[in-house]
Amino acid sequence: MRPRPARLERLPEQYFVNLLGRVAAAAAEAGPPLIDLGRGNPETGPPEHVVEALRASALDPAVHGYAPIRGLARTKQALAHRYREVYDVTVDPETEIALIPGTKTGIVELALALCDDGDTLLLPDPYYPDYASGPALAGANLATFELRSELGWSPDLEAAPAAAALYLNYPSNPCAVCAPEGVFADAVEWAARTGGAVVHDAAYVDIVYDGRRPESFLGTPGAKDIGVEMWSMSKTYGMAGWRLGFVVGNAEIVERINLLNDHSRVGVFLPLQAAAVAALEGPEDSVHERVEAYARRRNAIAAILPEPPVCEGTFFVWLRLPDGITAETLLTEHRVAVAPGEGFGPSGAGWARVSLAVSDETIAAGAERLHAAFAAVAA
Ligand SMILES: Cc1ncc(COP(=O)(O)O)c(C=O)c1O
Repeated sequence: MRPRPARLERLPEQYFVNLLGRVAAAAAEAGPPLIDLGRGNPETGPPEHVVEALRASALDPAVHGYAPIRGLARTKQALAHRYREVYDVTVDPETEIALIPGTKTGIVELALALCDDGDTLLLPDPYYPDYASGPALAGANLATFELRSELGWSPDLEAAPAAAALYLNYPSNPCAVCAPEGVFADAVEWAARTGGAVVHDAAYVDIVYDGRRPESFLGTPGAKDIGVEMWSMSKTYGMAGWRLGFVVGNAEIVERINLLNDHSRVGVFLPLQAAAVAALEGPEDSVHERVEAYARRRNAIAAILPEPPVCEGTFFVWLRLPDGITAETLLTEHRVAVAPGEGFGPSGAGWARVSLAVSDETIAAGAERLHAAFAAVAA
């Protein structure tokens, strides 16, 4: 066989695959059971009415064939309904929504749809590591600019350079902040100034705390002219394994994603679309319960830390590690896994991401170990 094509060679290290491997290796070593607060995988599934909609649909023999490639109008209407009801944003289900098998796929496809060979994709650093994969496959360059904790991890988009695309993500993984005031409007201005497109990753849009309201980028005047939002079933409804997400907004970019769909997939399993409709238009109690549970766990972690961590949204706490502690020492000496901040870009060095998507008991046990680790270096 010939050598791997250059596009595969360009792919960066897969941070989460490495992290899972590192944690599994540490767990296999002798010692007390390891507590894993490194992963961001929803710990509970969707509410019963969603599972029931999947089951009821799957009983129909007619739904097991190929599904329409670009998705059912009904499914897109249900997402448009959610955008109207929850985010106060109007989108045209026919032209402004595309189905994708989870936003992880959209992250790569949007880079392919927006960047030509040699173009640049721009990211604030720290960033969700999977954002680096799309430009590698597209033959584009990755450029980053530093975010600083003193500035609340807020990007200075007035100073940001030109690029074919800018990816933003609020609430932010890993920084756990919601969109700072004015950042979405600045992003629209950045696009007008540079001719680039804005992609907003809204994977955690509904997981916000302390009275904050879920905010869509598309609610910003001009956003739909220059960008799209990725919306995911995974975190809002605990459907990460089901693999369904959407690209929403600018009709030309949505059409490009549909074009990729035409050439690379054959629709989304119809019972999954029926379940998505049930989730998107059904009662929201499970979403509120999920957010309450994460807030409770966030407070339990915050209570043992020497300084308050960041957690305005997402199911992560972003915290500064005291001198003498690293994610590696937490793993090997205290047997608690967290996601090392430097894996999210150089600006994340010295920080760590702690997951709240585990049981209350795991949080309590993890908090105890973190407390012991921090106390040991403070002494
Ligand atoms: C910021 C961010 N974007 C996208 C994703 C991928 O989500 P999905 O399940 O929709 O592929 C994740 C998953 O952890 C994430 O943290």
